[in-house]
Amino acid sequence: MGKVVEYMPSCHSTNDTAREMLVSTDIKEGTFVITDHQTAGKGQRGNSWFSAEGKNLTFSIILKPGFLSVDKQFYLNMIGSLAVKAMLNELVNDGHVEVKWPNDIILNGRKACGILIENSVRKSNIEYSIVGIGLNVNQKSIGLERATSLVNEANREYPLQQVLDSLLGHLESLYLKLKSGKEQEIKERYLESLLGYKRLRKYRAEYIFDGEIIDVRDSGHLEIRTPGGSELFDFKEVEFIWN
Ligand code: BTN
Repeated sequence: MGKVVEYMPSCHSTNDTAREMLVSTDIKEGTFVITDHQTAGKGQRGNSWFSAEGKNLTFSIILKPGFLSVDKQFYLNMIGSLAVKAMLNELVNDGHVEVKWPNDIILNGRKACGILIENSVRKSNIEYSIVGIGLNVNQKSIGLERATSLVNEANREYPLQQVLDSLLGHLESLYLKLKSGKEQEIKERYLESLLGYKRLRKYRAEYIFDGEIIDVRDSGHLEIRTPGGSELFDFKEVEFIWN
């Protein structure tokens, strides 16, 4: 991963640039699009992603997971989250890393990284996947109560290249694991990392309720055990309440 690199000093969204590249050329798997300054970064649920110029990592990787059926697409979210977690465990001493479903990476109780995955489907498999990662590295003032960065948690700045190399290394090895069929191991590691897994927490759907995450389906649906029985939620249908 990252052997073919498309670097832009500035762009709207690396996910959008990656998609444009897919239309126009025959792209090699692992091609990597990175910018210092994203002017219209996209987040999950139609949100925006803001990142200070030159301080953080904003990039997208193009995968061609033709081996993966659509109903297992959430494995791409799992390996993305686990790769960021592994990198943080390697680089941030005493950092406590958790994953907030579907794929927010929480460092010492605050979000340090967001992942936006956009898939295109051919027949019933994933033809292309654009894995967009926004990681707060050296930005001190973020202005969001529940957000943080590596510099804020480790009290030192990081060379962006070091962080990137570690992250891409972990992502590549997890992707190869997925390709070789080690789905169960990936799922177990993801569930163990998940905030609220087998723990009672508050959630908001159409109402507020207490529940315990008991599973995440291959499709990404979240299964929560509530006092009234277990319920399945799709993205956007349920939200974690922090306090
Ligand atoms: C989220 O947590 O809401 C997901 C944020 C994803 C941000 C990254 S930055 C690189 C890539 N390009 C985008 O426009 N978004 C993703």
